[in-house]
Amino acid sequence: MRRRIQWLTHRLGASGQTPKWLAWATINLSIAAYFCVGLVAPASIGKTRWLPGETSHGHYQIEMDCDACHDPSRNTKKPTSADVMQDACIRCHGTQLQNARDTHPAKKFRDPTNAVLLEVLDAQNCLSCHQEHVPEQTTAMGLTMPKDYCWHCHQEIADSRPSHQGMAFDSCATAGCHNYHDNRALYEKYLDDHFGQPDHLDVTTLPLRRSSSAGNGSTKKVISLSIQDADYSPGQSFDTQLVNDWAETEHAAVGVNCTGCHRDDAQSDWSDAVSMDRCARCHADQVDSFQTGKHGMRLSVGLPAMTPDQARLPMHADQAHSKLDCNACHAGHRFDSQFASMQACLRCHADNHSLAYQSSSHANLWRDEIAGSLPAGSGVSCATCHLPRLENESGVWVNHDQNANLRPNETMAREVCVHCHGLEYALSALADQKSIDACFADPPATRIKSVEMAHQWFESRSTNRSTKGGGR
Ligand code: HEC
Ligand code: HEC
Ligand code: HEC
Ligand code: HEC
Ligand code: HEC
Ligand code: HEC
Ligand code: HEC
Ligand code: HEC
Ligand code: HEC
Ligand code: HEC
Repeated sequence: MRRRIQWLTHRLGASGQTPKWLAWATINLSIAAYFCVGLVAPASIGKTRWLPGETSHGHYQIEMDCDACHDPSRNTKKPTSADVMQDACIRCHGTQLQNARDTHPAKKFRDPTNAVLLEVLDAQNCLSCHQEHVPEQTTAMGLTMPKDYCWHCHQEIADSRPSHQGMAFDSCATAGCHNYHDNRALYEKYLDDHFGQPDHLDVTTLPLRRSSSAGNGSTKKVISLSIQDADYSPGQSFDTQLVNDWAETEHAAVGVNCTGCHRDDAQSDWSDAVSMDRCARCHADQVDSFQTGKHGMRLSVGLPAMTPDQARLPMHADQAHSKLDCNACHAGHRFDSQFASMQACLRCHADNHSLAYQSSSHANLWRDEIAGSLPAGSGVSCATCHLPRLENESGVWVNHDQNANLRPNETMAREVCVHCHGLEYALSALADQKSIDACFADPPATRIKSVEMAHQWFESRSTNRSTKGGGR
């Protein structure tokens, strides 16, 4: 290294164009800068070189923001394994696990009868099962532990449930059987309630979204606007097509004028750029949920928007630099949700599953719905499965977190498939990786057993009770 530098300064000095001292200073400064930048730089620069290993599929997008998980007040220089905050995991995932009615929450193990189990495995600590930066140990869903761990706490199950005799130690969490956290589509009562359903239900429609005529959940009278009402200043120049697009679509119909998006309030100046905070004033649920999934997670921690060139999944090269913001799917001033449901996705996504969609029977249904030969809500677009329509107190809304029901995928069965299919059929298709890869072009190859097992369990219990003479 020293010899190289000497050689370099010699060359620069000898050439007569740069004085020797300047060359020295430049080189020294660059070396110092290289080693110091990580200490003082903002989260996004420099610290990656301290990463001990590749970050998991779930978190790599925000890995630059070390402080999201490592407590900077514990060690100001360099993150370590000792300063990881369990609080941070719960801050980002707590609500999600609560909504999923987590069947193994930390509080379950505070109960003295269960507390002994913690000697086997500290189930109150997320890091017992989910470590980071250890790619060679990490499996799906950020898991970093061997598969047979259920058995350590549930060894008695083979005796108490004859149906479970002879099952492999590591088979409990096989698709369609049990999950550790989220069992909303797998608990026995739910399975039994859906026993005996046909593969294809008679009525197959999704909840319908509220339309402009219903307004934005408010009872205020809506005054729709037309081109003449547009409130931009006369001096402004831009492609007039955007005014037509606005006038022909939803926002004009519900009375949202140009300045509703382009100005913060009546006093502020016009701004061409419109951030998602503006949208949030009227669409809080969509903006919040967008930020907890893979599309919006970088924006949520203050990093620049995600772009396809940073993705690990296959993407179309021509969209490499498209920013993932609200306009990524709701292009232009039409904010067209039909375009957003499928064409928009396929501009970016290029994995086998996404590419197979067009030849599935679901895609035929979607095309028929758009053509008007099937009623609204009978088609299945990408968004039907990945941005599901959910119902809450204020009506139907679109969950913009495409990861919320993705893994474990039984969540999707309960939120989406059971509108149209029997539960057993849906769980079987979702347990079949080949079927997923082909975007459900064929019926599932095999059937999962859990629905039938749950039914038999309830049957045998009621037979036991009646033979004992009436039961409780
Ligand atoms: C999504 C959360 C998250 C982010 C973001 C994150 N880490 Fe970590 N990091 C962890 C977890 C979890 C561990 C494992 C802790 C344990 O083993 O107890 C860890 C461990 C480490 C370790 C110790 C590894 C070892 O072998 O002992 C280092 C060093 C580290 N991280 C550096 C970084 C740096 C540098 C960044 C930012 C560039 C970063 N981490 C970003 C979660 C994160
Ligand atoms: C005893 C092991 C264990 C512990 C402890 C644990 N998990 Fe998990 N986690 C799992 C398993 C197994 C999965 C795979 C999906 C499943 O079976 O539910 C998972 C999946 C997840 C997922 C993705 C799927 C989903 O249901 O949303 C998140 C997020 C998650 N865990 C967060 C956490 C957090 C936060 C903590 C700490 C409060 C935690 N986990 C503690 C075993 C564990
Ligand atoms: C800044 C917010 C944030 C923090 C802090 C954070 N996560 Fe995550 N995590 C996410 C997001 C966003 C995803 C990707 C979307 C998803 O899969 O839900 C994710 C993904 C995951 C997954 C994988 C889910 C899958 O489907 O593959 C697991 C498991 C997980 N997180 C557990 C943890 C644990 C344990 C910690 C604490 C060490 C933690 N997270 C800290 C935001 C966070
Ligand atoms: C650290 C110990 C521990 C581990 C590991 C563990 N469990 Fe549990 N599990 C418990 C405890 C404690 C209960 C609560 C039992 C009760 O309420 O009587 C429970 C309850 C359950 C239930 C009944 C859930 C309900 O309330 O409806 C099922 C099913 C289950 N576990 C399956 C699993 C599976 C599958 C795994 C592995 C993916 C697993 N468990 C891993 C300790 C554990
Ligand atoms: C629902 C919100 C919304 C409404 C209503 C709206 N815009 Fe926009 N507008 C946007 C967004 C989002 C962008 C893209 C900004 C960016 O890329 O940061 C944009 C961009 C623009 C731009 C700059 C980019 C370009 O294409 O030239 C102009 C000019 C513009 N809008 C004019 C108007 C006019 C005139 C109206 C009324 C007829 C209007 N907008 C109504 C959201 C809106
Ligand atoms: C001043 C309030 C307001 C603002 C600001 C606003 N919207 Fe809207 N938007 C509405 C109302 C009201 C509707 C009609 C009811 C509904 O669908 O929620 C609507 C409808 C929509 C629709 C559905 C369109 C359709 O054809 O189905 C989309 C998509 C949309 N907005 C996106 C956005 C985006 C993106 C932004 C930010 C760039 C934004 N909106 C800003 C009030 C607003
Ligand atoms: C990945 C693509 C995608 C992105 C990014 C996206 N949307 Fe959407 N959005 C959709 C789709 C698809 C629908 C219609 C789904 C349906 O009809 O079931 C929709 C519907 C909507 C609606 C009307 C439906 C409702 O929930 O009432 C609003 C409002 C909306 N989006 C706002 C936003 C905002 C605000 C952002 C930015 C935070 C955003 N969208 C980002 C795909 C997207
Ligand atoms: C501007 C490009 C773009 C558009 C448009 C887009 N996506 Fe994405 N999508 C991405 C990127 C980038 C990721 C993150 C991939 C990664 O981390 O490897 C992603 C992630 C996802 C994931 C999570 C994958 C995982 O393994 O966690 C799903 C599901 C998804 N997108 C579905 C959709 C759907 C459905 C639409 C349309 C409604 C859509 N996307 C529109 C670029 C896009
Ligand atoms: C009938 C429901 C359904 C439809 C329609 C659908 N998907 Fe999926 N998608 C799934 C399921 C299920 C998974 C796998 C989840 C898992 O990992 O178990 C998945 C996975 C994905 C992934 C992650 C792939 C990976 O390797 O991690 C992306 C990206 C995605 N879908 C995008 C799309 C796009 C884009 C479309 C439309 C062209 C689409 N999907 C249509 C159900 C659907
Ligand atoms: C809006 C209703 C609807 C939803 C939601 C829906 N499907 Fe379907 N699906 C259908 C209909 C109708 C068919 C039969 C189409 C045909 O035969 O033309 C079908 C066909 C299928 C097929 C067989 C494909 C073939 O060509 O034989 C599979 C597998 C499938 N769906 C799985 C799923 C899964 C898994 C989900 C949830 C992630 C789901 N579907 C969600 C309506 C729906």
